[in-house]
Amino acid sequence: MTDTGPPAVESVVVVEGLSKVFRGPPEVAALRPCSFRVGAGEFVAITGPSGSGKTTLLSLLGLLDTPSSGRYLLDGVDVAGLSDNDRAGVRARQIGFVFQAFHLIGYRTVLENVELGLLYHGTAKAVRRERALAVIERVGLSGRMHGLCSQLSGGEKQRVAIARTLIRRPSLVLCDEPTGNLDTVNSDAILTTLEELHAEGMTVVVITHDPGVAARAQRNLQIRDGVLSETVGVG
Ligand SMILES: Nc1ncnc2c1ncn2[C@@H]1O[C@H](COP(=O)(O)OP(=O)(O)OP(=O)(O)O)[C@@H](O)[C@H]1O
Ligand SMILES: [Mg+2]
Repeated sequence: MTDTGPPAVESVVVVEGLSKVFRGPPEVAALRPCSFRVGAGEFVAITGPSGSGKTTLLSLLGLLDTPSSGRYLLDGVDVAGLSDNDRAGVRARQIGFVFQAFHLIGYRTVLENVELGLLYHGTAKAVRRERALAVIERVGLSGRMHGLCSQLSGGEKQRVAIARTLIRRPSLVLCDEPTGNLDTVNSDAILTTLEELHAEGMTVVVITHDPGVAARAQRNLQIRDGVLSETVGVG
């Protein structure tokens, strides 16, 4: 038999026995040991009540926090034991975050905020501009490109945040309550954008306590009291 090299990476995320205990006091077992995979191009929703461990899990997947136990392979590479420095590098190159609080710079324009997504990537200015224009169009904000972020609506801000993430072309997009502050119309627009990204092959994990969001994902995981389980759809 001939060796044709390493197998193709089909799972963006492989998690085995991943857990998080906050030492306290009081000690909180925020995430009990869990194992799951997220395939390349999947759109996964993780739901659960407040305090169930959703953000804890997202922080582990996003390398914002270290697990108390377990293995985590991101794009086939073991990232659980990396140094802080290496984790920051992986985060910058491979992971995109969309949070409920947008973390935009209000006194800068849409274009500037989106370009900032690439600031630490050493990307040439002209390339940065070109990619920024493309992703701003992608989220439907070309008309507001030179507007200040402080003057945008909640839904528009969230779209800027998504564009700032997309400009980096991450292999995994992690969203924590991306529609939490938005009305129905704006939530719907954000969800449609996430669905389109999924359709284009991007891997998306959305944390939410909104069943309406979960209904639009391809796959549902649920957390209760730190215990993760897969919800199998009925139809
Ligand atoms: N840094 C921390 N130190 C101690 N306990 C923490 C810490 N962060 C979270 N916890 C606890 O871990 C549990 C899970 O919190 P987590 O933020 O993951 O919940 P969540 O599902 O995201 O809730 P919400 O829907 O309200 O955002 C909670 O009991 C919380 O109090
Ligand atoms: Mg949370």
